[in-house]
Amino acid sequence: MNKICTNSRQTLEQQFSIQYSFPVFFSHDIFREDDPLLASVFSRAGEKSHTLLCFLDSGVLAERPSLIRRIENYAGKHPETMSLPAPVFTVEGGEACKNDPRIIDLLIQYIKEHRICRHSFIVAIGGGAVLDAVGYAAAIAHRGVRLIRIPTTVLAQNDAGIGVKNGINMEGRKNFIGTFAPPFAVINDFSFLETLPARELRSGIAEAVKVALIKDKVFFASLFEKRADLASFSPQSMEDMIHRCAALHMSHIGGGGDPFELGSARPLDFGHWSAHKLEEITRGTLNHGEAVSVGMALDSLYSYYLGILQENELQQIFSLLGDLGLPLSHPALADLDVGAALAEFQEHLGGGLAITLLTGIGSRKEVDRIDTSLMKRCINELLLHSGSEDSDFPGYTPLCEELP
Ligand SMILES: NC(=O)c1ccc[n+]([C@@H]2O[C@H](COP(=O)([O-])OP(=O)(O)OC[C@H]3O[C@@H](n4cnc5c(N)ncnc54)[C@H](O)[C@@H]3O)[C@@H](O)[C@H]2O)c1
Ligand SMILES: [Zn+2]
Repeated sequence: MNKICTNSRQTLEQQFSIQYSFPVFFSHDIFREDDPLLASVFSRAGEKSHTLLCFLDSGVLAERPSLIRRIENYAGKHPETMSLPAPVFTVEGGEACKNDPRIIDLLIQYIKEHRICRHSFIVAIGGGAVLDAVGYAAAIAHRGVRLIRIPTTVLAQNDAGIGVKNGINMEGRKNFIGTFAPPFAVINDFSFLETLPARELRSGIAEAVKVALIKDKVFFASLFEKRADLASFSPQSMEDMIHRCAALHMSHIGGGGDPFELGSARPLDFGHWSAHKLEEITRGTLNHGEAVSVGMALDSLYSYYLGILQENELQQIFSLLGDLGLPLSHPALADLDVGAALAEFQEHLGGGLAITLLTGIGSRKEVDRIDTSLMKRCINELLLHSGSEDSDFPGYTPLCEELP
C-alpha cells in the first residue's frame, strides 16, 4: 500500500512495498513436445500467447546439437501460450560471457531488434555465467524484462539460478556490475546434467556443502553419508542434494530479512572472500565451486584455530570435501594477499567487514576482523597439504613465476 507522509512542507516521504514470489520447478526433459510444464509457466502471466526470446549457452548446444530444433518445435506445439519470433541466440558459455561487455551489447541489440517489451519474456538456458550475463541484459533492457531461468549445471540449479542476482565482471573484478532482479520463474531440468563434465558436476556440490555448514547439520550429515554416491554422481543423490541446497538458499534469501543484501552480513558467502580472489588470480583455472571448496577449507581451519570449531568437526569437513574430490588447497593460495582480498570483499559487501566463520557444523557467526597472521598460518598449512599437487592444475602459472 502506498503512503505519502507529509512530515513538513519541505519533505515528502515516499513509501511502498512490493511482494516478490517466483516458483522453482524440478523436472526432466522439459522440451519434450508433450511436456506441459514450460507452457504452463507462461500461462501464469495470463491466458494468451506470450512472446519470448531464447538465449542458450554454447556449451549446452555443443553437447545437444538438436536442442534448438527441439525448442522451436516445442514453441510451435504450444502456440496458445508462447511464440518465438526469432532464432535462439547462442551465448558463449562459461566466464567468457561475463568478461566481455560487448556480449551484453549484442544481447541488448537482439532484444531491441526483436521488439521485446516488458510484457514479453526472456528465457535463459545455461550455466551460472550465461544466466548471470543474460539476466543482467534482461534486467537493464527496458529497465527489466521478465526472465525465465533454465539452469543447466549443478551450481546453477542449486545456487546461481535460484537467487535474485545477476552480474558481469569488470576491471578484473568478479560480478562488479549487476543488479538485483528476481526471475519470473526457474525450471531446474535435471536431464541437462547428463552432459555436464565430471569436474562441473563435482564443483556444484561445493555450494551444497557450504549451505549445510552454515545452516543445516542434518543436511551435512546426509551429504556425509551419501558422499560415495555423490562422488560417483548417482542421479538420485545429485537430485536430492540439488533440491535441498536450492531450498536452503531460497529460505535464506526469502526469509533471512535481507534479500537485496543491504546489510553487511552475507552467510551464503561463507568461504567466498578468498574464493573470488582465487578465481581471479588463477584466471578461471580454478572454477567457482573449486575455489569455494578451498575457501571453505581455509575458513574452517581458521575457525578451528580460533577455538570455535572442534577438531573432529574440522576433520569431518575436510574428509567430506576430499571424498567428494573437491580441492582443499591450491598453489594460488601462495599469491593471495589476505589484507587486500579482505578489503575488496568488504567493499563488495558495503559497510563493515563481515566474515562468516563456523562455530560448529550447521552453525556460524559473523566476525568483523580477521587476524591476518593467523590466516596466513592457515594458508601455509593448506599449501603444505597441497604439496606436490601442482600438476592437478596444469593451466595455472603461479604469479611469482611470471614476475621478471
Ligand atoms: N547470480 C548469483 O547469485 C550467482 C551465484 C553463484 C554463482 N554465480 C556465478 O555462476 C558462475 C558459475 O556458474 P557454473 O558453475 O554454472 O559454471 P559456468 O556457467 O561457467 O559453466 C561451466 C561450463 O559448463 C558448460 N555447460 C553448462 N551447462 C552444460 C551442460 N548441461 N552440459 C555441458 N556443458 C555445460 C558451460 O558452457 C561452461 O563451459 C560464476 O560466474 C559465478 O559468479 C552467480
Ligand atoms: Zn558461490
